[in-house]
Amino acid sequence: MAVTELDVDAVRARFSALRAPTAFFDGPGGTQCPDSVIDAIAAYLRESNANLGGPFGASRRSDALVAQARLSASSFLRCDPEETVFGANMTTLNFALTRTVGRTLRAGDEIVVTRLDHDGNVSPWLELAHDLDLTVRFADIGGDTTLDLDDLEAQLSDRTRVVAFPLASNAVGTTVDGRRVAELAHAAGAIAWADAVHYAPHGPIDVAALGVDVLLCSPYKFFGPHLGLAYVRAGLAGTWRTYKVRPAHHRFETGTLPHELLAGFVAAVDYVDSIGWDAIRAHERTLGERFLASLPSSCTLYGLQTMDGRVPTFAFTVAGVPPRRVAERLGLLEIAVWDGNYYAVEVMSRLGLGDEGAVRAGFVHYNTVAEVDRLVHALEAM
Ligand SMILES: Cc1ncc(COP(=O)(O)O)c(C=O)c1O
Repeated sequence: MAVTELDVDAVRARFSALRAPTAFFDGPGGTQCPDSVIDAIAAYLRESNANLGGPFGASRRSDALVAQARLSASSFLRCDPEETVFGANMTTLNFALTRTVGRTLRAGDEIVVTRLDHDGNVSPWLELAHDLDLTVRFADIGGDTTLDLDDLEAQLSDRTRVVAFPLASNAVGTTVDGRRVAELAHAAGAIAWADAVHYAPHGPIDVAALGVDVLLCSPYKFFGPHLGLAYVRAGLAGTWRTYKVRPAHHRFETGTLPHELLAGFVAAVDYVDSIGWDAIRAHERTLGERFLASLPSSCTLYGLQTMDGRVPTFAFTVAGVPPRRVAERLGLLEIAVWDGNYYAVEVMSRLGLGDEGAVRAGFVHYNTVAEVDRLVHALEAM
């Protein structure tokens, strides 16, 4: 067997949740957890539940766990452990981090966001702009939903302080050349602020190679528990005055962390490492190509029509059937998909899908070709 070939049966055997008859194509809203993640959460609560810094076993084990969680986060994002920040979810972390950088901004400063972004990387800036009298500019996308880098460049000025952008769209799956956007941001003297939430289950992240200054993701989208994770480049974080209680050691974290979820996070990173990105990417490509090749003509797919430049997240409509109805009918057949705009407000409105949105099927590596075929046959039958 080639190194990159995924044994999907062996993968699925590691997830109790995947014994259910459901085809889980709802990964963009949150993935299933392998049993190792569930066990790690339970084991922490059984054996090590305590606050930090105490002179007794459970507390010492909790100290060690938090240190390990930072190491796991640093290996997942390729940064220093001290550059990692845990929080409730991406959106909460982003509101906190944007408030912090807001302390360095002045009225008239400009923020560039993109029409490919989830609102979790847009509204925090709109709210900050409201409070501080900043200007938010939108970099446009083309009709094929790729980010228009020329338009992004045209939005930059000597007042631009931050360029916020996604690595992949949670609506249409389109990926972004994060390295190029970071270069453009830096050339304008701005901070590069990446939303990696949707990209994280599909490929490796290397914040240094990307050259971004801030990056956010959510472990519950990559086989871990409900948690948020951010990277803030040390050189930048040191220049910010953060909101924290005086004795706290960590610059951005404001209280006791959900230790049991950190235990699950460590297990999730170990899980991804045990599979490997090459195998994950090759299998996801097979699933995506199968779907693209067999999508019935009654369906309209939005965004890129091949697997190049995208992850296998597909937004489509079915002629004559409202997206909610399609999702409900698929739900009755134990096929889990989403409908609506999934908070990707700008891209959906740009595609003329503002009201009802579209159906979204998102594949991850634990899905099978047989599940994709089930979805296609169900769509054919509509
Ligand atoms: C691309 C993207 N950004 C941000 C978010 C918000 O993440 P969270 O639920 O962790 O706040 C999501 C959630 O779906 C997302 O897909």
